[in-house]
Amino acid sequence: AMVRHYKFNVVMKNATRLCSTKPIVTVNGKFPGPTIYAREDDNVLIKVVNHVKYNVSIHWHGVKQLRTGWADGPAYITQCPIQPAQTYLYNFTLTGQRGTLWWHAHVLWLRSTVHGAIVILPKLGVPYPFPKPHMEQVIVLGEWWKSDTEAIINEALKSGLAPNISDAHTINGHPGPVQGCASQEGFSLEVQPKNTYLLRIINAALNEELFFKIANHQLTVVEVDATYVKPFKTDTIVIAPGQTTNVLLTAKNKLGNYLVAASPFMDAPIVVDNKTAIATLHYSGTLGSTTTTLTSLPPKNATSIANTFTDSLRSLNSKKYPAKVPLKIDHNLLFTVSLGINPCATCVNNSRVVADINNVTFVMPKTALLQAHFFKIKGVFSDDFPGKPPVAYNFTGNQLTNFATTKGTKLYRLAYNSTVELVLQDTGMLTPENHPIHLHGFNFFVVGRGQGNFDSRKDTKKFNLVDPVERNTVGVPAGGWTAIRFRADNPGVWFMHCHLEIHTTWGLKMAFVVDNGKGPNESILPPPGDLPKC
Ligand code: C2O
Repeated sequence: AMVRHYKFNVVMKNATRLCSTKPIVTVNGKFPGPTIYAREDDNVLIKVVNHVKYNVSIHWHGVKQLRTGWADGPAYITQCPIQPAQTYLYNFTLTGQRGTLWWHAHVLWLRSTVHGAIVILPKLGVPYPFPKPHMEQVIVLGEWWKSDTEAIINEALKSGLAPNISDAHTINGHPGPVQGCASQEGFSLEVQPKNTYLLRIINAALNEELFFKIANHQLTVVEVDATYVKPFKTDTIVIAPGQTTNVLLTAKNKLGNYLVAASPFMDAPIVVDNKTAIATLHYSGTLGSTTTTLTSLPPKNATSIANTFTDSLRSLNSKKYPAKVPLKIDHNLLFTVSLGINPCATCVNNSRVVADINNVTFVMPKTALLQAHFFKIKGVFSDDFPGKPPVAYNFTGNQLTNFATTKGTKLYRLAYNSTVELVLQDTGMLTPENHPIHLHGFNFFVVGRGQGNFDSRKDTKKFNLVDPVERNTVGVPAGGWTAIRFRADNPGVWFMHCHLEIHTTWGLKMAFVVDNGKGPNESILPPPGDLPKC
């Protein structure tokens, strides 16, 4: 294993998209930011220097951070943010992990422009469990707002209303020629006929689940969230914010240009053309500008396409890469996820949109939870997060009297190495919506999924305990449920939240505290000396 050193200078940079220019927060002046390359088991050291006026923290999304929660990154959960002119060295080891992950800012809405890929190659000499590609390419999907994203979220918090949606999607930082700005160039991927490419696709969008498609080409899915899956062919990828998907693309044609698109799966009703990001697959040697367009893009809310894709995902579960699904469960949990409305005297409509898990709208603490846990600081959090919904729910019913949520900084305590089954139920209290739920510190197995209310007697029997897909971010379907299982083998405080940034902001988040074990390998390491102070 090697030690890899990176330096992230967080700096402002002017960027021109959609025919207008604005200053954005970046790492090293790049959008998307630099890719981190490493191999399985490498030690990665990233020195982050904050040169901007905002507080900054960086999360290494999907990195388990075994015993190194101090390097996980979510502000006020595992660390206080890095203040202007301050520095923090993130130090972690990629124990047993390889594949595509990503990093992003985990404070305010900075992740709209502060994000990039993490490419973890297998250990030297270890092949992929699929044919070796000729070349690899990172594809980062994102969103672009013409105005400043911090201003947008601050405005929304003041009014209590939903924020403006983005003006376009991006593929590797570029919307491509879209309505209103047809002259701008999109990202172009050059390929050689007959070669095979590994595309490492990341959805870094703030609030949009996306479809991804290439005209006239099929894609073979081989990995999601840095875990290998049974390969399957598809012409459309469905990817939620936070998720990563590796696909093999064979350049089967001889010549030509083919359109690549990232279009929204679910969002507010607006014109699709305004939002779809356009890129080009360009066969090398092709002259001229004829491009084969996509005959069809999945329409918005095309749940059947999304379901077909999601249902195809299975762990590789080979001898070399077995799916270690917990079979005996210590904690049986059921969490409802939803949006609600709380009173707000200063807001438009005298109310504000909030979000919750088990009816608790999470309140961010002033001290990082991990510090409070490690140093036994009282009064920062309580560990009475409800393990079951405290109020009856019914996703089909109108809970008009039940829109209000309670508030608190509540954690759920798990014994070290205990096993957890967690059913995430969308209650559609305000509107039924997909929620991509991300758990820090662990991968989990997605053992079941369904529409309507979860029925523990019937649905548990249908769980896949053999080869369920393993991931770190999973969609809870609108008006339905998803069941996950994991082993709490990582001591620390671990955030869990909806990866639609607006839902996190509104409070759809909580954290688990995994008690330190007794043995030397079972407790979190002491904090580094440069850990930022609040
Ligand atoms: Cu990718 Cu807590 O986030």
